[in-house]
Order: sequence, then structure tokens, then C-alpha cells
Amino acid sequence: MIQFFHVSKSYPGGQTALDEVTFDIPRGELVFLTGASGAGKTTLLRMIFREEVPTSGQILVNGRNVSAIPRSKIPYLRRTIGVVFQDFRLIARKTIFENVTYLPQVLGVDLQEQKKLAYQALRRVGLAHRLNAFPPELSGGEQQPVAIARALINDPDILIADEPTGNLDPDLSREILRLFLEVNLRGTTVILATHDRDTIQRVGGRVLTLDHGRLASDQELVGTDPPTLDPLAAEAATQVPEELLPAPEPPAEEIPE
Ligand SMILES: Nc1ncnc2c1ncn2[C@@H]1O[C@H](COP(=O)(O)OP(=O)(O)OP(=O)(O)O)[C@@H](O)[C@H]1O
Ligand SMILES: [Mg+2]
Repeated sequence: MIQFFHVSKSYPGGQTALDEVTFDIPRGELVFLTGASGAGKTTLLRMIFREEVPTSGQILVNGRNVSAIPRSKIPYLRRTIGVVFQDFRLIARKTIFENVTYLPQVLGVDLQEQKKLAYQALRRVGLAHRLNAFPPELSGGEQQPVAIARALINDPDILIADEPTGNLDPDLSREILRLFLEVNLRGTTVILATHDRDTIQRVGGRVLTLDHGRLASDQELVGTDPPTLDPLAAEAATQVPEELLPAPEPPAEEIPE
């Protein structure tokens, strides 16, 4: 699904961000990407959705050579990839509703359907009651779940999350991680960049470690305390733990304006 072949990236000025990185992530896998600050995690992720191009090497996403995609076709690639940016990238002058429905809007989804999608996506991250707020009215720890809801709204084939729990308290961080595992269980390929060694060791799974731009290791870790996931619960797209739910769900016809 995501293949890197000897991918290197140098920035003008000689800074080498990635150095001959090769790996293959099959469809449906969940992978942690880790490494110290400056190791190249964000650079690597940005190449998957063509926000950066390699200086050398090749990247295939879904069998397609990402560097060869014409500029006009890049939006098609990005529609299949949900991205949670390290700096959220919410638009301050747009409401939470408008932020999370950015892609459905572009795709011309009708307003009622947009509301339903937004409500469901925000409910999954416990923020359905903040639909009409603006990002600056939310704390950093609240903006992060909004960015996650926006990434999930289109049910992407690939979910890329760059430090998605960096601003969250430990409880919310655990719940968000559980959400990612559920999304993965439903078939989405998930790549999570994180510094959080404790989480990786607890959850376990495949871990790619970058060190000064090189892939220092690609290993399978057995988690010490992997979260238990109910496949049936994962099927239900809006499954969220009780304490994260804001208010009782309004009936479908009363989805908030
Ligand atoms: N646009 C850019 N121009 C020049 N250098 C850059 C640019 N983006 C990243 N770099 C450099 O590339 C290296 C890798 O950066 P990157 O952001 O990928 O690291 P990271 O692993 O995501 O770090 P962090 O954990 O702090 O988010 C760093 O040395 C950084 O300074
Ligand atoms: Mg980064």
C-alpha cells in the first residue's frame, strides 16, 4: 500500500532529512513511526500525500508512483488519505463544523449529509457539542481531536497522524489511540508518528524508527498491555467511550445546525 524505495530528501542548504529509507507497509497495517525530534518523521509522512517530493528514490502509494502524479491529480490522491497534522492546521475563521467538513464540501456533498458526517466524526472524538465554536475558542487538547475528526470524516484508505496525542491528557490520549486501533480494525492503513515510547511499548505492533533520517530499525514489538478491542464495537462507526460522549445523541432529524 505504501512503499518507499531508497528515498532520500535533502533540503536546500544541505540539510538531509531522510537518507535511503526503504520499507513496505501492506494494506490494513498499523505502524508506529518514531525517532527523536528532527529524525525525519514529518518529512516522511508529508511525502506520502505529496506535500514533499523525494530528492531521490521512489514512493508508491496504492501502486502509484507519487512523484509522477500530475499536479492536477494530486487532490485525488489526497482524498483517499486522512491526515492529522502535527500543528493541526485548522482554519481559525471557520467553525469546527466547517473545518471538519472541508473535504465533503469540496466533493459537493449536500449540507444535510455534511451535518451527519460532521456530527458522527466529532462524536467519535467527544466533541460533537462544539460544532459551532471556532478553533481559537478551543484548547490545544480540544483542537487536536477536531483535526482527527477532519481526517476521519471521509473514511480514508490511509490515516496518517503526526503526533496525534501530543497535546492530550493521558486519558484522552488512550481513548484516541483506541479510536485509531478501531479505525485500523475496520480496514484503514494507519501510520502514527509519535515520540511516546511508553505508548508504543504498551500497544506493540510494527515500529519504524528513524535516526537522523535513516531507518534505524523496522521491528515487530509485542505490547506489554495492548488495548482490548471488540471487533463488533469497532464495526459501529460512532463507538465512543461513555465518558467522552458530550450529551445524549439527538435523534437524526435534530442534528444541530
Ligand atoms: N522545509 C524545511 N526546510 C529545511 N529543512 C527542513 C524542512 N523541514 C524539515 N527540515 C529539516 O529536516 C529534518 C527533519 O525534520 P522533521 O520535521 O521531518 O523531523 P521530525 O522527526 O518530524 O521532528 P519532530 O519530532 O520534532 O516533529 C530536521 O533537521 C529539519 O530541520
Ligand atoms: Mg515532526
